[in-house]
Amino acid sequence: MDTGAKSVGLRRASASAAGFCYEEAFSRNLGWLTAAEQQVLRGKKIAIAGMGGVGGSHLLTLTRLGIGAFSIADFDTFELANLNRQAGASMASLGKPKAETMAKMAREINPTLKLAIFHEGIDETNLDAFLSGVDVYVDSLDFFVLDLRQKLFARCHDLGIPVVIAGPIGMGTGYLVFVPGGMTFEQYFRLEGLSPERQRVNFALGLTPRAFQRSYLVDPSRIDLKGMRGPSTGIACELCAGVAAAEVVKLLLKRGRVRAAPWYHQFDAYSAKWKRGWLPGGNRNPIQRLKLAIAYRLSERLSRDAIPSPRVPKTDMEAILDAARWAPSGDNIQPWRFETVTEDRLIVHIKGTGDVYDYRDGEPTLLAAGFLLETLRVAASGRKRWMYWNYLGRQDGVHRISVELPRGPQVVADELLPFLPIRSVDRGAYRSAPLTGDQKRLLTEALGPGFSIEWHETLGERWRQARLNAAATDIRLRIPEAYAVHRKILDWERNFSPTGIPSTAIGLDPLARRLSGWLMRNWRRVDRANRLMGTSIARLEMDLIPGLFCAGHFSVRAREDEAKRDGPQFLIEAGQALQRFWLTAARLGLRMQPSLAPLCFAIYGRDRAPFTCDDGILKQAHRLAERMKDELGAAGPRVVFRGRVGVPASAAVSARSTRRELEELLVPGERAEPEAPDLRATGTYGRSP
Ligand SMILES: Cc1cc2nc3c(=O)[nH]c(=O)nc-3n(C[C@H](O)[C@H](O)[C@H](O)COP(=O)(O)O)c2cc1C
Repeated sequence: MDTGAKSVGLRRASASAAGFCYEEAFSRNLGWLTAAEQQVLRGKKIAIAGMGGVGGSHLLTLTRLGIGAFSIADFDTFELANLNRQAGASMASLGKPKAETMAKMAREINPTLKLAIFHEGIDETNLDAFLSGVDVYVDSLDFFVLDLRQKLFARCHDLGIPVVIAGPIGMGTGYLVFVPGGMTFEQYFRLEGLSPERQRVNFALGLTPRAFQRSYLVDPSRIDLKGMRGPSTGIACELCAGVAAAEVVKLLLKRGRVRAAPWYHQFDAYSAKWKRGWLPGGNRNPIQRLKLAIAYRLSERLSRDAIPSPRVPKTDMEAILDAARWAPSGDNIQPWRFETVTEDRLIVHIKGTGDVYDYRDGEPTLLAAGFLLETLRVAASGRKRWMYWNYLGRQDGVHRISVELPRGPQVVADELLPFLPIRSVDRGAYRSAPLTGDQKRLLTEALGPGFSIEWHETLGERWRQARLNAAATDIRLRIPEAYAVHRKILDWERNFSPTGIPSTAIGLDPLARRLSGWLMRNWRRVDRANRLMGTSIARLEMDLIPGLFCAGHFSVRAREDEAKRDGPQFLIEAGQALQRFWLTAARLGLRMQPSLAPLCFAIYGRDRAPFTCDDGILKQAHRLAERMKDELGAAGPRVVFRGRVGVPASAAVSARSTRRELEELLVPGERAEPEAPDLRATGTYGRSP
C-alpha cells in the first residue's frame, strides 16, 4: 500500500502466526455474529487516531472483534500519569512510543493484523494517507485536540467515512455517530468562531448533554478547561471501547439501527443512568444553548479555582519546600517565608499578624511555625533527609528558625507523607459515630509524651463545647477588630483560595453566606444587623449544629513539666505534635476543625486585656473565661489546642484553602549567616524519624 507520507509505516504481520488460527481465535464471537459476518469484519479496516486513554482500548477491543486492518497514529510516549487508564501503559512501557506498544499488543492477539502505523501522529499533510481504505474512523484524539479533530471529521465526511466518537466522561461515556450525508461534526458541536475555552465547553456538553457526571464530581479543583487539564478514569475508557465497538459492528455489518447525530447516547455506570436523546440543531438547540450559557460560567469558575499542576522540582530543597507549603496556619495566613542558605540549610522567617486572634503575643503563629516544621520534617523524609531545627530568636516581630536537612540514606519516608496536601480543615457537620478505641489511641500516640488529650464525646459534652464555640463566635462577630481580619481573609470569589479562606468553606448555608457577603461590605452594616438580628444564624450553622454532629471535641494540654517550659521553643514543639495529630487523623479518614477562638477570648477575658473598644464585649469575654474554667479547668496545665473531629459526612472537597506559590514564599538569601551552627550539638533540634 502506498500511503504517500513518510511518517507512515505499513507493517504486515511480522509476528509469527504459528499456532494462530483466525476462525478459532474469534469463534466465541459467533452467535452474536454469524460466521460469514466474522469474515466480513476480517476484511475491514478501521482508523484510530490516538493510542492513549481511549484509543488503546479501542484498538484491543476491535482487534478482539476480529477486525483485520487498522490505521493507527500517535507521536507520544507513555508516562506515569497514563497508568490509571491507558491500555498500553505499564511500568514496562514507560517512555516507549504509544503507537508501537499498542501495535505489539494488538499483534499478540492477532498476528495476521495489517497495521499502518503513523509514528509521528497525523496532521493535514497525511490525513488522506491515514484514512486510505478505511471503513470507519473511531475517534480517540486527546479531549483538548479540537482543531485537528475538526479537520479529521470534515475529511471523513468528504470521503464518506462514518465516524464513531465515545468520550470517557467521569465513570461513563457519551457517544455519537456521524454518517456520510448526515449531520456534520461542526453542525452538531458548533465550534466555529468560539474561543478555545468555549470550544472545549461545547465539545464536552455536546458529548454529554445530560452531564450525569456532575452529581459525583467530588474534587472540582481538578478540572480546568482553560488550562487544558481534566480527570479521566480507566472505567470510562473501557466503557467507551465497548459502546464504540458495538456501533462499529452495526455500521460495518449494516444491521441494527444506527442513530447518527443529532442522536446522542450517554451511559453513566456510577449513577447507573442511560439516556439516548435527539438533539436537533446540536449545540444550537435552544435548550442546549441555555445549558451552554450555564456551562460557560461554570467552566470559568472551575478554571479560577483549579489548583495548578504540581511542579517538577529541580532540587530536593525545592521539592521539600513545595510540599511544606501545605502546612496549616490560622486563617491560612501562611506566616512563613523561606530563605535558602545552601542545598541543605534554610532559615524560616515567621511573622505574626498581630491581630486580635494572635493572642498571648502570637501564640497561634508559633503553633503554626511548629506545624510547618513538622511538615518540613515529613516532606524531608520523602527525599531521604533528616530535619533539625533551632530557634534563633525574634527581631522586629519576626521569628527566625534555622533548619538543616542533612542527607541520610537510612531515612525512610514517613507514612504521613501522602497526607500533607490531603489534610484539610472541615467546618461542616460530620457523622456522629464515635471514634473507635484504636483511632483514639493512634491519635493520642501521634501527640507524643509531652501532651495529653481530653475527649468530650457524650451528647452533653459536645453540646457544652459547641456552646463555648458559639459564645466565641458571638464575640468575634460583634467586634470591629475581628471584622477587619474577616474582611482580609475571607475569599468571596473562589472555592479554592490560595491566600485566604473561601467563604464557601466556613459552614454557612448559601443564603446566609450571600447575606453575610453583602453585610460585610462595611462595618456599619454588620453592626446594625447584629443589633437587629443578633448572631444566632452564624452560631447555629457554624458552631451548634457542627458541634453536635461530630464524633467528639478534644482539648490538648501540655503535661505539667512541659508547661513549665514556656516560650517559642515549647509552642513550636506543640505545633509539631499537633501536626502529627492532624495528619494522623487524615490518615485514619477523619476530619478535624480546630477551634481556638474560645481559648483566645477566654485568655483575654481572664487577663482583662483590652482587646476591643467595646466595653460590653470585654465583660462577655470575662464570662467566657469563667465558663472555660468550668469546662476545661484552665487553672490546671495549659490547654494549647482544641477542636472537634469525626468521620466526614461526604467525601467531596468542594471548597478549601490552598496555598501561595512557592515563589511567593521565598526570600532572597543575602541575610544568610556565613556559618551554620551545628544544631545537633546544641541539643535544640527537632524530632527526626
Ligand atoms: C494554629 C491554628 C489555629 C487554627 N484555628 C482555627 C479556628 O479557630 N477555627 C477554624 O475553623 N480553623 C482554624 N484553623 C484552621 C485553618 O484556618 C486552616 O488550617 C487554614 O485555613 C488552611 O486550610 P487547610 O487546613 O484546609 O489546609 C487553625 C489552624 C491553625 C494551624
